[in-house]
Amino acid sequence: MTTLIICSSRSPHANTTRIAQTIAETIDAQVVTPDQATPELIAAADRIGFGSGIYWMNFDRRLIDLVDHLADGAGREAFVFATSGLPETPLRRYTESFRKRLEHKGFRVIDTFTCRGLDTMGPLAAIGGLNKQRPNQADLDAARRFALQLP
Ligand SMILES: Cc1cc2nc3c(=O)[nH]c(=O)nc-3n(C[C@H](O)[C@H](O)[C@H](O)COP(=O)(O)O)c2cc1C
Repeated sequence: MTTLIICSSRSPHANTTRIAQTIAETIDAQVVTPDQATPELIAAADRIGFGSGIYWMNFDRRLIDLVDHLADGAGREAFVFATSGLPETPLRRYTESFRKRLEHKGFRVIDTFTCRGLDTMGPLAAIGGLNKQRPNQADLDAARRFALQLP
């Protein structure tokens, strides 16, 4: 099975890229940015992973735009992962919204994974950031287990 991972990781810490690389090593996938995800690469993949840091309580706009412009998923499998400074709140379910966006596009979302990432946004930098050292080894191990249990 060919798996393509499209990952948007904007902070200088590359937290989501580290999760993407761990998943990719585990299931032998290719990791690209939204800009690198050509229609040919997307069409050739049996399964697509979509990963993003969380920015202003949402997935990266570039990844959302990419999904909105995708051809019909035709029932292909997809999975979703994200890193964020804070856990998602019930008031703003951005992972669920992103899942629905993919389902609306005809993908079958098989699973989602989230974990904390070092967050030095704004005033947090003054205290060395929130979630120092994360994703840590336990987070990377969890990402590996997530990848291994994908159907
Ligand atoms: C511009 C910006 C906005 C952010 N907004 C949020 C937010 O709304 N909620 C949150 O939990 N974390 C927020 N964060 C923290 C990031 O989600 C977190 O650091 C994430 O791990 C970044 O992933 P990356 O290193 O792959 O970009 C923000 C970070 C940046 C740089």
